[in-house]
Amino acid sequence: MKHHDVIIIGAGAAGLMCAATAGYRGRDVLVLDNAKQAGRKILISGGGRCNFTNQKVEPHQFICGNPHFVKSALARYRSTDFIELVERHGIEYHERDHGQLFCNDSAKEIVTMLLTECEWAGVSIKLRTDITCINKTYSGKFLLSTSNGDLSCDSLVIATGGLSMPKLGATPFGYHVAEQFGLKVLPTYAGLVPFTWHSEQKQKFESLSGIAVPSTITAKDGTQFTEALLFTHRGLSGPAVLQISNYWQPGEAISINLLPTENALEKIELALQHHPKQSLRNTLSHWLPKRLVEALFDTPQLDKALNQLGHGERELIANALNNWQLVMNGTEGYRTAEVTLGGVDTNELSSKTMEAKNVAGLYFIGEVMDVSGWLGGFNFQWAWSSGVAAGMAV
Ligand code: FDA
Repeated sequence: MKHHDVIIIGAGAAGLMCAATAGYRGRDVLVLDNAKQAGRKILISGGGRCNFTNQKVEPHQFICGNPHFVKSALARYRSTDFIELVERHGIEYHERDHGQLFCNDSAKEIVTMLLTECEWAGVSIKLRTDITCINKTYSGKFLLSTSNGDLSCDSLVIATGGLSMPKLGATPFGYHVAEQFGLKVLPTYAGLVPFTWHSEQKQKFESLSGIAVPSTITAKDGTQFTEALLFTHRGLSGPAVLQISNYWQPGEAISINLLPTENALEKIELALQHHPKQSLRNTLSHWLPKRLVEALFDTPQLDKALNQLGHGERELIANALNNWQLVMNGTEGYRTAEVTLGGVDTNELSSKTMEAKNVAGLYFIGEVMDVSGWLGGFNFQWAWSSGVAAGMAV
């Protein structure tokens, strides 16, 4: 049986980062993955350009049952550290809204960079390998039965990610390992995911598919995001919707402000003063796409001139624009979700090393644990930071 100091299961963002870090420390590291290619999620991320981190990363941008958990790892391996690595490899990048950093060329460059780092650090990677059984011996070693033979190691790192995008090979493997060793796994939900319409909403709004507008969306707990909102055939998407989906529970209403920088009532009153005979339809169509206006309000109302609308009516219209309350049917689920909320309970892990408090030598990193970031490069930053934290400890 071949023995390694460290075996990492999962050749994704966190696993490769951890492997290179541990390899540079002189550890004998083997990475196993059941896929035929390493870093598949990285390759499709950010529309193929990988939003690899963010200029401004702060703990409140992560959702975790224990909000303090992320602080240590994020402080020890910062976005500036990853940017420096990217620059050392000569990868050109650019900044988009809200400090998001993307490759100029292709996400492939990030995977190549990680694989190069692993190679320089002497890491071995075995793909197309199924792990069928894991046991821990009395002497503290881990024994693994795999489709490529039996292996043993002193430190075992689980980096198998969450459940999002099963088409890309996502599996609940990491949760099963956690449960096998007595660690608590918190319920999982699809995160950073589009919403779907109820059937009657679908009839009314389906035709708006393709329309994008600026918005501020607020969840029941008061969390809000100001970004684009996109209407789709199935429901709502776009950055504002993906962000708020992390804070939404089934059955809860969301509030959408379609004029996020303006007071709709003041705007209507001003229009009434200057163009009293202008129809509501024409007035609103200056501010929002006409098709959206026609879906939000009924025809008799839209045909009225502004001076035919009572004050109460104007208030209701303004409220529909600044505070459109919607109860969505649900989400598109793991099929299209970018992340998985929930997972291995961080209370079971050391925030400095990611090692299980009660199982010496067993580590969990990346998305498999109950840490999910906002849209904008935060999930990769968590993969890098938690990967380095474990890589320094294994
Ligand atoms: P990751 O999923 O990367 O890797 C897990 C690895 O484990 C995979 O290689 C998988 O094959 C392997 N594995 C799974 N089960 C196994 C088993 N049973 N046996 C062996 N191996 C197994 N984030 C961000 O910050 N910026 C972005 O631009 C994007 N964009 C984006 C787009 C899309 C479409 C998705 C789905 C996700 C994103 N994300 C993102 C999120 C980001 O991709 C994600 O948070 C990280 O990849 C998580 O890294 P991990 O290493 O934890 O898991």
